[in-house]
Amino acid sequence: MAEWESSKKSAAAVARGRRNAGERFLKCCGLTTALLLMLAIALLIIALTVFNPKTPHLSILSLHIHTFSATSPPPSYTPTVKLALNLRISIHNPNYAALHYSSDSATSIFYHGQLAGQAPIAAGAIPARQTRYLTSIVNFRGDKIVTNPNLLPDFNSGEFPISTQTAISGKVSVLKVLKRHTVAASACNVSLSVRSQSLEYFICNYPTRL
Ligand SMILES: *[C@@H]1O[C@H](CO)[C@@H](O)[C@H](O)[C@H]1NC(C)=O
Repeated sequence: MAEWESSKKSAAAVARGRRNAGERFLKCCGLTTALLLMLAIALLIIALTVFNPKTPHLSILSLHIHTFSATSPPPSYTPTVKLALNLRISIHNPNYAALHYSSDSATSIFYHGQLAGQAPIAAGAIPARQTRYLTSIVNFRGDKIVTNPNLLPDFNSGEFPISTQTAISGKVSVLKVLKRHTVAASACNVSLSVRSQSLEYFICNYPTRL
């Protein structure tokens, strides 16, 4: 009987001990678990913001006339435009992974919205967080716009307006998991003087997303 009592007592002591251990476990390891969870969430947020693929920034640094002549020779006096532009472009890759851009990338020239020339940009890659500088020489196809109804009025007004669009089409893949197709582009409005056969002004927009 005494033996039974003592074993009952010790069983209660064991149970009490277990309860204390349980409380201790909750106090220490519950806190640890909460901290680990918070750390995991913080790491996830950092991973999603830092490694989330971002759109590259494309800027037109300069735009020059490579060749330009606008004449209306006899006998037809139909305006003939010979033009090539030289654009200096910078592309910044803000990602923590390389940007691979495809041969779909190009600089295009438009005359009143009509495509009148295109210079492809060769495919390439920009390492993580680096900037690449490119030169693009784009020829204006004067023969394409001879039937454009704006040609004669523009020629007579002495101001020849064109616009350009430079776009690179690429892919960023972070840790081979986060992949994103991305397009960076910049457009410019250009005004050329027929009289002085020179560039009057150009205005380009800030890097845009398409
Ligand atoms: C270029 O001209 C078009 C039409 O006038 C205008 O909508 C556009 O905002 C201009 N772009 C820039 C970069 O000024």
